[in-house]
Amino acid sequence: MSNELRFDGKVVIVTGAGGGLGRAYALAFASRGASVVVNDLGSSRAGEGATSTLADKVVEEIRSKGGKAVANYNSVEDGEEVVQTALDHFSRIDILINNAGILRDKSFSRMTVAEWDIIHRVHLRGSFLCTKAVWEHMRKQKYGRIIMTSSAAGIYGNFGQANYSAAKLGLVGLMNTLAIEGEKYNINVNTISPVAGTRLTEDILPPEVFESLKPEFVVPIVVWLCHDECHENGGVYEAGGGFVTKIRWQRTDGAVLREKNKPMTAENIRDNWDRVVDFSRNHIISTIRESTLAAAEQVMRIESGDNDLHSNHPIQPSIAIKHKSEPSVHVYNSNDVIKYALGIGASTTQEDHLKFLFEMNDDFCVLPTFAVVPAFTSMVGITNVPGLSINPAKILHGEQYIEIFKPIPTSGKLTSQTKISAVLDKGSGAAVITDVDTFDESGERLFFNQFVTFAVGYGNFGGQRSSSGVKEPVKPPKRSPDASISEKTSKDQAALYRLSGDSNPLHIEPSFAAMGGFKQPILHGLCSYGYAARHVMMKYGDNDPNKIKAVKTRFAKPVLPGQTLRTDMWKEGSRIYFQTVVVETGVACLTGGYVDLVDGTGSSSSSSSSVNQAQEQPVEDKLESDALFEGVQNLINADMVKKVNAIYQWNITKNGKVTRQWALDLKNGSGSMTSGPASKPGCTLTISDDDVMLMFSGKLNPQQAFFSGRFKAAGNIMLAQKLETLFKAQAKL
Ligand code: NAI
Repeated sequence: MSNELRFDGKVVIVTGAGGGLGRAYALAFASRGASVVVNDLGSSRAGEGATSTLADKVVEEIRSKGGKAVANYNSVEDGEEVVQTALDHFSRIDILINNAGILRDKSFSRMTVAEWDIIHRVHLRGSFLCTKAVWEHMRKQKYGRIIMTSSAAGIYGNFGQANYSAAKLGLVGLMNTLAIEGEKYNINVNTISPVAGTRLTEDILPPEVFESLKPEFVVPIVVWLCHDECHENGGVYEAGGGFVTKIRWQRTDGAVLREKNKPMTAENIRDNWDRVVDFSRNHIISTIRESTLAAAEQVMRIESGDNDLHSNHPIQPSIAIKHKSEPSVHVYNSNDVIKYALGIGASTTQEDHLKFLFEMNDDFCVLPTFAVVPAFTSMVGITNVPGLSINPAKILHGEQYIEIFKPIPTSGKLTSQTKISAVLDKGSGAAVITDVDTFDESGERLFFNQFVTFAVGYGNFGGQRSSSGVKEPVKPPKRSPDASISEKTSKDQAALYRLSGDSNPLHIEPSFAAMGGFKQPILHGLCSYGYAARHVMMKYGDNDPNKIKAVKTRFAKPVLPGQTLRTDMWKEGSRIYFQTVVVETGVACLTGGYVDLVDGTGSSSSSSSSVNQAQEQPVEDKLESDALFEGVQNLINADMVKKVNAIYQWNITKNGKVTRQWALDLKNGSGSMTSGPASKPGCTLTISDDDVMLMFSGKLNPQQAFFSGRFKAAGNIMLAQKLETLFKAQAKL
C-alpha cells in the first residue's frame, strides 16, 4: 500500500501487550515498521501473580513475522524500568500506549480500600508513571505520541465499577492537562474508550457480541492517532466493532440568577431549574478559558448592576407582544372539510351527520370547530417569535377558545392574522396567549381563535399573572350533569385527525410518544375538543353549526385513541358548561369547558340528535354497590393500614360509564373510604356496579374477571389482591 501509515524508525512502548488489545496494538505497530517494547506483567485479570510467558509469546510472534520487538515484564508501576528497556534496546522512545489494566468489580458498599487502591495503582498511577518516564525524552526530542485508555464505565458510570470508573475518568483528566503542557513540544496526548472481546470482557459480553468485537477493530484509531500525520491532541474517542466516534463536553445556556447586592437563593435556582438544565440551547466548551470567560462576563454584568434577573430571561413579554407576524393563508376544499369531520368522529352511521360528510348533500356544511384548522400553524410558530426563546419540547397546548362570526364556507382561501396578546407568568411556566383572527377573501372576519400555550419551566420572568383579554375556563354548576353523551373513538382516530394539519409524530409514532413519556401515541387535544363540541351541538344546538357561537376548554389529561369520551353537560341559559371524561379511566380530559349558543337557541333536542354511535345516557343516582363501599368504612382500622399501606381508587361503572368513584385510603391514619377520586392512588380498580357485587359475594372470580376485561386494575395491580378479604367480609354482612 503506497500511502500506508508507516512507523519505520519509531519506537513504541505498549503496556499490557501480552494479550487482548495491547497484543493487537503491538503486532500492528511492528508490522508497520516500528520497534516495539512488549510490556506485560503477566498477572491474572484481577492483577494477581506474574509470568513472563505472555510478553514473550507476543515478542516471538512479532519476530517470526520479521518485526522488531523486545519484552519487558515489569509492572506499569515501575514506569522507569519499562522505559529503560526501550532505551537499552532501541535508544529512543516515540510512542507510549498506556493500555495495561485489571478489574476488581464490586458494588460500592462491598468494595474494600485495597480493591480501590489496586485499580488506581495499575490504571491511573501506572499510566502516570510510564508517562512521567517518557515525558522528558519526548520534550527533548520535541516529538511524542501518548495514548491513555479510558472506558465507557468511567465516562458514563457502571454498576459495580466505582474504583475502575474513577480511575478511568481520572485518565481523561490527566490527558486534558498533558495535552496542554505537551503541545509546544509536539507531544500529542489522546484517549480512547475501547470496546473489545478480550479476557477482561469474556464473561461480560454475550458470546456472539464478543466474537464480533475483535481487538483488531480498535487498532486503527490508535495507529492513526499515533502517526506523524495526525495532529489531534486532547481528544476522547470511543471505538469498537468498526465504529469510531469522538466525544466532547457540552453545557446548557444556563441562567444568571443573581442581581447586584441581592442575595442569591436556592429557591431561585429551583424556580429556574428547567432553564439551568435545558440542553436545547447549548455551547461546546473545550477549554478552561472558554468555561471561565463566559462566567466572568456574567459576573461583570451582575457587578455593573446590569443584570436585572428578568432582562436575561428567555421570556420577554414586551418584545413578544410587539412582534407582528406575517398573515398565513389556508386554502381548503370540501375534501378537507370532510376529512376534519371524520377526524372528530362524524360517521355515516349517524343519520344527521351526512351533511358533514357528503359534499352533494343539500345541507353540506362545516363543523364549527373546523375553525381551529386554518389557525393551527400560529400556535406551532410561537417558538420563533422574538421574546419567546422556548424549547419546542417544553410547550403544551393548555386551552382553546373559538368564536364564530359567520358560517364557515365549505371551501375557500382564508387569511389568518396572529398576535401574541399576553404572556402570563404562572410561576411554574409561561402561558402564551395567541389570538388569531381569520378572514375570508372579501376581508370579512369569519372566526377568532385563542390558543393558550403553556411553556413548562419558563415562569418567574416578573410578568403579570392574568390578563383581561384571556377567555378563562369556567367550572360547571355543582349539580349532577343535565345530560351526557358517550362516544367511543376509533383506534385510528389520531391517524385520521392528523391529516387536518397537526402532524406531530407524538400522535402516531410509538417511539416518539415513548420519548414524551407516553405508553402509546395519544389523541390530539383538539380532536377531543371537536368531539365535545359536537356532543353539545347534538344535544343543545339541533346538530346545527349555525347555532354555535363559542367553544372554550382546558386540556387536562391525554386521551388514547380507542378510548370512550363522555361529555357531561349542564345548561344555564344559552351557555352549556361541559366536561369530558375518559370512560375507561374515569379521568377528565377536558375541563372548564363551555359552549355559548347563538342567542335564541338552546332548547334541549334529544329527539332531533339521533345518533347511533354516540349514546345519550341518564345520570345515575343510587348504585347497588354504594352500601358495600359505605359499609367497608366501618371495617377499616389502623391495623389494616399497617398491613396494606396503599391508596386505592375504585371506579364503578354503570352502562359502560364511570358513575361513582371511591377513594380507599389504607395508608394514612386509621384509614378511610370516601366518595370521589383518590389522591395519588397506588392502584386504580374499575368494575361495573353489578360485577363488584357479584365478585364480593363470591359469584365472580376476580382473576377470571380480570382476564376477561370485566375487572380492570391499573398501577400496582398486586395491591388489588390485598383487598379481597376486606370486601368479602363486608359482602357477607
Ligand atoms: P486484557 O486483560 O486482555 O489485557 C490487559 C493486559 O494487561 C493483560 O495482559 C495483563 O497481564 C496486563 N497487565 C495487568 N496489570 C498489569 C501491570 N500492572 N503491568 C503491566 N501489565 C499489566 O484486557 P484488555 O481488554 O485488552 O484491556 C486493555 C485496556 O483496555 C485496559 O486498560 C482496559 O481497562 C481497557 N478497556 C477494555 C475494554 C474492553 O472492552 N476490552 C473496555 C474498556 C476499557
